[in-house]
Amino acid sequence: MINRVDAYLHAVPLSGSFAEQVGPFTLFRSTTIWPYYARPVPGTEATIEPADIELVRVRCSELGIPLSFEWVVETCPSLGAAAAAAGLTVVEHPLLVLDRDDFRPEKADARSEILPAEEDVVRQARAVANLAFSDPGTAVGVAGPAERDTAAAELEDEKVAALVDRASKGVSVNAGAFTDDGLVASGTHQPVGSSTEIVGVATLPSMRRKGLAAAVTTTLVEHAFANGVDLVLLSAETDAVAAVYERVGFHRIGSAGAAE
Ligand SMILES: CC(C)(COP(=O)(O)OP(=O)(O)OC[C@H]1O[C@@H](n2cnc3c(N)ncnc32)[C@H](O)[C@@H]1OP(=O)(O)O)[C@@H](O)C(=O)NCCC(=O)NCCS
Repeated sequence: MINRVDAYLHAVPLSGSFAEQVGPFTLFRSTTIWPYYARPVPGTEATIEPADIELVRVRCSELGIPLSFEWVVETCPSLGAAAAAAGLTVVEHPLLVLDRDDFRPEKADARSEILPAEEDVVRQARAVANLAFSDPGTAVGVAGPAERDTAAAELEDEKVAALVDRASKGVSVNAGAFTDDGLVASGTHQPVGSSTEIVGVATLPSMRRKGLAAAVTTTLVEHAFANGVDLVLLSAETDAVAAVYERVGFHRIGSAGAAE
């Protein structure tokens, strides 16, 4: 299972980048407006050394792109220490998967549905995500629908266009939950073959703890299972966030590492 997850995570950046091998890593060079990262080549047996990190640092510097790494800790256990020794900041997040038989759909007091690849809807969903991720954790906060509308109006057209493009190609599938205040929670899944990852699940801070994230996750999982996917994975920011997904049936299989 962990190798299948690793293979998916090595394929998914290719929808927005091209791959270049640098030592024991694949460096995903972005062809879109957000940066990617380097990952260890799947199946690599080599122990990663700080010198391997330096190879990527030099290449990123030549290309003028930020230096960062993402990996599955269990498939490349030496990378975290090598990255830390090379001066990078290393974090690990819970990595979870959902088996079809474990799925426990959750509905909230809101309409949750797959979103169309339309500019105004994508803009609102991105504004919800930006507000949510700038107030991390699971606690109820202040920012609500008014702040969403302000943030949506301020989003760069170029970024929204890139997101609409991904949605219209089916590379990203977006879902959202609506109340009388409009779109209040959102999330995305990114299918590649028969696997997909759920990313960017976000609830407006003022609308938290009403089951909206669980409902959006349910909509994404139902869409994935109805469209040929049999493995859904995600990495959660913290154990508290992971608990939201565990309610829907996800279970932890390891850790996702990130360094920058
Ligand atoms: C993490 C996040 C998406 C959760 O959103 P949410 O809509 O509040 O999630 P839910 O309401 O489904 O679940 C949150 C909690 O509310 C509880 N809850 C759900 N429905 C409830 C209800 N009707 N009444 C009271 N509590 C409820 C859940 O049991 C859960 O409790 P727990 O924290 O003890 O596990 C949100 O806090 C967020 O946007 N955080 C910042 C961004 C982020 O970290 N996203 C995740 C990326 S992996």
